[in-house]
Amino acid sequence: MTETIISPAEIARRPIEVPPHPHWPTLSKEEKTALKARIKQQLQEQDAVLVAHYYTDGDLQSLAEETGGCVADSLEMARFGSEQSAKTLVVCGVRFMGETAKILNPEKRILMPDLNATCSLDEGCPADEFRRFCDQHPDHTVVVYANTSAEVKARADWVVTSGIALPIVKHLAEKGEKIIWAPDKHLGHYVQKLTGADMLFWEGSCVVHEEFKSVALERLRKLHPGAAVLVHPESPAAIIDQADVVGSTTALINAVTSMDNDEFIVATDGGIFHKMKQLAPNKNLIEAPTQGEGATCQSCAHCPWMAMNALQNLSDVLTTGANEIVIDPALAEKAVLPIQRMLEFAKTHGIGMKTQGNA
Ligand code: 13P
Ligand code: SF4
Repeated sequence: MTETIISPAEIARRPIEVPPHPHWPTLSKEEKTALKARIKQQLQEQDAVLVAHYYTDGDLQSLAEETGGCVADSLEMARFGSEQSAKTLVVCGVRFMGETAKILNPEKRILMPDLNATCSLDEGCPADEFRRFCDQHPDHTVVVYANTSAEVKARADWVVTSGIALPIVKHLAEKGEKIIWAPDKHLGHYVQKLTGADMLFWEGSCVVHEEFKSVALERLRKLHPGAAVLVHPESPAAIIDQADVVGSTTALINAVTSMDNDEFIVATDGGIFHKMKQLAPNKNLIEAPTQGEGATCQSCAHCPWMAMNALQNLSDVLTTGANEIVIDPALAEKAVLPIQRMLEFAKTHGIGMKTQGNA
């Protein structure tokens, strides 16, 4: 019997179940202080550090920095985690970030505030279908974005993040390699445009960045002619085309501190404003529009899965030890290779991963 092969475009048309934003009870100042003190003590007692992403709640980001952990983009989160001597890493972000930490550090305990914190790119790239797609093109080098499951990574030759995708694909293209790219079509097309690489695409996308509206952005730019436009490359091409800077979350934060502009229009998850405001308190930061024609109740530029991380469930997980990331060692052994290849490439090419002005 012949196997039916479903195309990446058909798979991309399947709806992704997007959860409602969690509503965390508002904590009084005293409650928040007490909870933070408790978490600090728990971290110390358990030899644990926090590894947080820029899209998580500002309190979590600050706590990570105050306690010797880090707040970073996904590339630096991976690197930081593997350089820690702590026995436990508590990853505040989405599941692929916790899985990457476990794959790189199998001897460590990796906890997450909520294991349901997934990512639309990961959800839209089922491993069995992805493997079949790759098997159809055995002469292609498989490059996958970090926002994927351990199973998908295990089928890849390279893992990349937004901070390193461009130089890695350029390097492969210069060697004449043909590339399978998955899962984010927008980042993939952006990288192809700049490198001219021969690429076959998975057709996934980020439900948050998909929501930016290009016509409304044009209008906003006219209202703020002096503003620089900063865009994460998971955004559609019509948004990227209007950017002054396209880059990872770290690159966008660095742009705010290094560019002379007084105003910035920012097209990425709103969680990034916490660090931007901290590093550039005198600059005017404007959210790129998600409202307007085609807007839905999901159009709020805040990842519903990142929002599953809060002080409350962070403390709970440190109390119960629940939500540990477990990965089959045989799978991790395969998945670690393309991640290590990326980290090695970053090291050899001196690709910076820290925000300027960060501790
Ligand atoms: P960065 O690696 O740029 O932090 O991006 C991760 C991500 O999921 C953005 O949506
Ligand atoms: Fe995934 Fe988009 Fe959320 Fe990033 S912002 S974790 S790409 S759904």
